Amino acid sequence: MAATSSSLASHLSIGLRRHSPKLDSLGSQPSLSATHSFFDTVHSNLRLSLTASKPSRPVVAMAGTGKFFVGGNWKCNGTKDSISKLVSDLNSAKLEADVDVVVAPPFVYIDQVKGSITDRIEISAQNSWVGKGGAFTGEISVEQLKDLGCKWVILGHSERRHIIGEKDDFIGKKAAYALSEGLGVIACIGELLEEREAGKTFDVCYQQLKAFADAVPSWDNIVIAYEPVWAIGTGKVATPQQAQEVHVAVRDWLKNNVSAEVASKIRIIYGGSVNGGNCAELAKQEDIDGFLVGGASLKGPEFATIVNSATEKKVAA
Ligand code: PGA
Repeated sequence: MAATSSSLASHLSIGLRRHSPKLDSLGSQPSLSATHSFFDTVHSNLRLSLTASKPSRPVVAMAGTGKFFVGGNWKCNGTKDSISKLVSDLNSAKLEADVDVVVAPPFVYIDQVKGSITDRIEISAQNSWVGKGGAFTGEISVEQLKDLGCKWVILGHSERRHIIGEKDDFIGKKAAYALSEGLGVIACIGELLEEREAGKTFDVCYQQLKAFADAVPSWDNIVIAYEPVWAIGTGKVATPQQAQEVHVAVRDWLKNNVSAEVASKIRIIYGGSVNGGNCAELAKQEDIDGFLVGGASLKGPEFATIVNSATEKKVAA
């Protein structure tokens, strides 16, 4: 399970470049300043260390029993026309039957997508308000998402944690509310580059998991997405071994802190620069139960390749 240092070293010595939005022009809000220093830190670290700590107890390798799950997070991308083309490509793609497939368009295109995409693919939102809708300017309620036919919502994504400044307890409350209204939650966790360098990868993931665990009454309708922040949108994917190592640790945490049943059933999906070329090797890992895909989900045929990497899982099993 543990990655060899040579494979880690060859992988980690690659320079890390991350596109960052131009935040200077947006003023001096505290969360944006914090974000700026986060990006500065990411840019100033071109090597990852090999110091990620191991879980404090022996890891029980226990692959999930859920169905493979692939989500496409379109983020803040697209126009009516480009989304129409993407939907048409997805509608004509051959998708393996034994995979849950979900796409998360920007809010303003959810209705267009729901009205034109095959029923084979479910719709997720990229965020939701923490409680019932009302006088919350600029927010979108769970009730409204359900009204449009959404089945899922992505919560705790690192771009919302580190750019917008959402905190663990707020994310936990959002998850609890969405679940209480019947939406499924794609619950994202993952460490920053400097946290990995400091050997805190597992601690950070456990703390983020605990915030969900403290808030939600049940894990039945939750998919966990492990997305190391240094791998998101950078083209720098975690090695299969790095991803597997954290997935096992997450499952182990759930076994010890929630229940063996939840640990066994829950889907733990990987996100961070997944594409058509690297998905097969990742999918072979025992504890990788699917993917949350950003950039590559904007290309229909490539997203279909990622969905269909579930077949590697069967071969590997
Ligand atoms: P990426 O994004 O595939 O573009 O790295 C993944 C995500 O943020 O969910």
